[in-house]
Order: sequence, then structure tokens, then C-alpha cells
Amino acid sequence: MYDIIKKKRDNGELTKEEIEFFINGYSSGEIPDYQVSALLMAIYLNEMSEDETSNLTEAMMNSGDIIDLSNIKGIKVDKHSTGGVGDKTTIALIPLVASCGAVVAKMSGRGLGHTGGTIDKLESIEEFSTSMSKEKFVDSVNSSGMAVCGQSEEVAIADKKIYALRDVTATVDNISLIASSIMSKKLATGADKLILDVKTGDGAFMTEYSDALKLAKEMVKIGENMNRETVAIITGMEEPLGCAVGNSLEVVEAVETLKGRGPKDFERLCITLGAYMLTLSKCAFGFEKGTKKIREAIQSGAALEKFREFVVNQGGNPAFIDDYSLLPQAKYKYEVKSSDDGYVSRIEAEKIGMGAMFLGAGREKKGDELDLSVGIVLSKKVGDEVHTGDVLAVIHYNDEEKLRSAKGIIEAAYSYSEEKVLKPKLIYSIVAKDRVIEIN
Ligand code: URA
Repeated sequence: MYDIIKKKRDNGELTKEEIEFFINGYSSGEIPDYQVSALLMAIYLNEMSEDETSNLTEAMMNSGDIIDLSNIKGIKVDKHSTGGVGDKTTIALIPLVASCGAVVAKMSGRGLGHTGGTIDKLESIEEFSTSMSKEKFVDSVNSSGMAVCGQSEEVAIADKKIYALRDVTATVDNISLIASSIMSKKLATGADKLILDVKTGDGAFMTEYSDALKLAKEMVKIGENMNRETVAIITGMEEPLGCAVGNSLEVVEAVETLKGRGPKDFERLCITLGAYMLTLSKCAFGFEKGTKKIREAIQSGAALEKFREFVVNQGGNPAFIDDYSLLPQAKYKYEVKSSDDGYVSRIEAEKIGMGAMFLGAGREKKGDELDLSVGIVLSKKVGDEVHTGDVLAVIHYNDEEKLRSAKGIIEAAYSYSEEKVLKPKLIYSIVAKDRVIEIN
């Protein structure tokens, strides 16, 4: 291990064998944290080549369970988001594409920070279960085209240990380390094709577009090197996605979107990602046809029916689809009002996410209990005209003290301008193989 650290410190390129040696040794506990910390810092400072990043991804993927989905018929397509505030995309998108014939065997995680993850959000639904046997998971996907379960703790074990170390050694924000971390888990969970939603902007991991583009290119390359066709879509996180931030509130917004009444930005994101998923899985010939199919699935009610089937398949009570009061409800509401006249020029997603976390919608540390009922619903988005006293957002809360800590940061998230303000960009570019298509 000493020689490997020294080689990377001196800007050498690590071989596949050297990378496997360090990943296997660290997973088994033979190599100590302090040596891996030193290597991570050398990687952080000197960066990794494309070959090194692919080899690191493969070694981390092989460090845990590899999920075998070969009993599932058809081309399996998966989607991953690098994470954002109000990102309830999976809940609407998966039934949408499944209703158009795509096959999605989705493994999702719980959230840390901002709001819950997909699994937490789905647990707002009475009796809904995301833990199931592999047989039941495979049967559901074969019969219904979709299922969502919690991701096994045994997937990409080396990544879990390394991520914990990166977190305390200031080595998280390195493109190769992020790309290999995300892709090792995605590739271990067995899909044939992959859509990546890489977020950029204030509320995202990659605040700068140029960094998001580098990350997207790196992940697409890793996917291609491992024979999994991968398309990345770089999308904006300059303001929260849609209007709802908080677990059961986001479920409502996802269902409203399937009913054709969702916020425009969120609907557009689902349609764009969905059209590419249909294209990749050969359910549509090209983006235009994919878009048309997705729109039709919303208009005809087919996507909503698929969602209902999904809830029933996973043991949930679907009655909430027609009566949202059956989901967890916060006891109180507080209106955040505009202190100015003009146009909303900014809603800092990160501040809204922090506010939701203070209310109890997200975890400050692993294992924290969530309050699934609380959160924020934005009434105004960037570009909207406002007058003093207009309601900007409604905070759903259960605890006065938590409201007090959340209120200030939510109010501070809003900025105004006297001039008209354009809506922030939602879709920046599409990265596929060696092409980048910029979207205007
Ligand atoms: N998400 C991951 O899974 N890994 C990273 O390194 C960053 C975000």
C-alpha cells in the first residue's frame, strides 16, 4: 500500500491490479483508514485518468453483492439523480415510463440532509412496503413492468467505507471519486441502460455547470466502458424542483403530475427523462416519439393507473390517490409572505432544503426519525410577480420550536428584483457517448 500511495503522490497512473489491491484490502480490513486517507488525498490532488476511474468503479462494484436481474424479461432501464431539493422524480417517472412499456427494477435509498430519499417518501403511503424478497421483486417487474425496493446494504461495500472516509478527509468533491462512487452502485444493481440526471446550481452537489458537465461525461464513459448504454441529462437546481419539499407533500405533487396537474418544471423534467428512457429501452424510436408517448400516458390516465397498480403491488392502500388527507398531514400551516413588490429573482434551493430538514422532513444524521407530514409548498417560483403581503410559501409543521428554526432560513431563501426575471434554465444539455447536445 505504501508504494501505491507513493506512486499516486508522484502523479503516477495506478494499474488495475494496484486499484484492486487497495479496494480488496480496504474492504477486508487489512489496509487501515490512515493509508486509504492518504491515497484519497493523493487522488484528490493529482486526479485519476479515465482508465483509473473505470478500474476503481469496477473494483468497488465487485466489492459487494452484484444483483442478478437476468430473470426479468426485456431491456431494464434505470435512472439516477445526483440529488436535489424537491426531487420526487422517481415517484412520477417510473410509473410513467412503465405505462409506456419500459421495464424498471428500481433500487432506491433513504435520504440524508435536505429531505428524505425515494424510499422515505414512499413510506408516507399507508402499508406501503419497499422491503421484499428477490422473487417478489422479480415477479412484480415481470408482471407490472416496475417495482421499487430499498437498496441492499451489501451493494458496493468498499464505496460505503470510502465515502465515510472522504466525508471526514475533505475528499468528497473530486469528479473521479464521485463518478466511481455513483456508478459502482448503479452498475451493481443490474440495469442494462441508464439515465443520469446530473443536477447543477445552488441546490446541487455540482454548483458550476462546467463541473456538472465533467461529472456527466465521466459517468457516461464509465457506463460505456462497462457496456451499459448511459445518457446523462444536466438539469438546473437553481430553485427547488416543482413546489413541494417534504415527504408526503412530494408524493401528492408526484400524483398530481400523473393527473396532468403538476408544476410545469417538474412535468417537463419527467417528460424529458422519460422520453430518453423510452428511447434507450427501445419503447420509442427517438426523443420526439418518446415525448409523445409520455404525454399520451398522462392524458389517457394510463400512467396514473400504473401508479395505482404499483401501490397495490407493494402492499399500499391506494385510496390516498383520490383523497390526499389519507397521507400524513401536519397539524399547522404558516404562510411566508413577501416583504417586497417586484419579481422573485431567486429561491435558494439549499436554504429551502435546510428549512425542510429543520422542520423534520430530512435527517441531520444517519438514523434520525423523519416526520413524513412536514415540509414546504412554494406558492411563488422564480420569475413570478409578487406584491408585499403575497404568500410566497406555506410551511407545514407540527412543532413551534422547529418552525422557529426553519422560518428564517426559508424567508432568507427568497430574493426580489424590480425588473422582470426569466425562469431559470431547467435542461442544460444531454451527454451521450462522445456527444454533448446543448439545449437552449
Ligand atoms: N453520491 C454518491 O453516491 N457518491 C458520491 O461520491 C457523491 C454523491
